Amino acid sequence: MSTPVKAPLYKETALGGRLTPFKGVWPKVDSSSYVFHGAQVVGDVEIGADSSVWHNCVLRGDVNYIKIGKRSNIQDGTVIHVSTHTYPTIIGDDVLVAHMAMLHGCTLHNNAFVGIGAIVMDDTHIMEDGMLAAGAMLTTGKTVGSGELWTGQPAKFRRKLTEKEIAKNRSMAEHYRKIAEQHRIDSVGGVAEAPYP
Ligand SMILES: CC(C)(COP(=O)(O)OP(=O)(O)OC[C@H]1O[C@@H](n2cnc3c(N)ncnc32)[C@H](O)[C@@H]1OP(=O)(O)O)[C@@H](O)C(=O)NCCC(=O)NCCS
Repeated sequence: MSTPVKAPLYKETALGGRLTPFKGVWPKVDSSSYVFHGAQVVGDVEIGADSSVWHNCVLRGDVNYIKIGKRSNIQDGTVIHVSTHTYPTIIGDDVLVAHMAMLHGCTLHNNAFVGIGAIVMDDTHIMEDGMLAAGAMLTTGKTVGSGELWTGQPAKFRRKLTEKEIAKNRSMAEHYRKIAEQHRIDSVGGVAEAPYP
């Protein structure tokens, strides 16, 4: 017989994101990270320093774990899940995951870029500075190489990114960190010394 629970267990982050345990394991969220209201973070999920999880994301670390490094951003409405016992979802540092992406059992290396609405399936990798275009579907087992652009459903290699594009993609991760900080200041009615953007 399971123990009766009076009310569902959860904690709120400073920005109103909801953290829920699974099998007694709580998400580990760095105090400098930004988990905004509407975000649901469940179970074995680690979120590193200065990373942001935007409104209405779902990160469900129940049947495997999710790990996010530093200064990465997971934009609004993105869903992250994992594969039972086989593939966790691992996200490195300075990674950009745009709005409404679906990540499942994949590894995004440092400075990877996932476009708006893209789907990233099990056992896939996006290597450093690799880019998956908006609306693409990276199918099981595929790897986007370092500095490559893949597009379409199923996603295929399209071309190498230029140095300028790589620099732009990298700057977007920093841009998101700064917007997150502006939102944090606004959430407590503060006024930034240098409002951004
Ligand atoms: C891929 C992307 C960078 C455009 O690349 P591009 O090379 O400038 O694209 P172009 O407009 O020159 O098109 C080149 C070809 O790629 C195709 N293409 C461009 N974007 C595509 C996409 N997202 N999916 C599929 N095909 C795409 C074009 O149809 C064109 O095909 P053709 O050569 O057969 O005519 C852009 O579409 C994209 O996905 N950007 C990411 C936006 C995003 O998610 N931002 C996050 C903001 S927080």
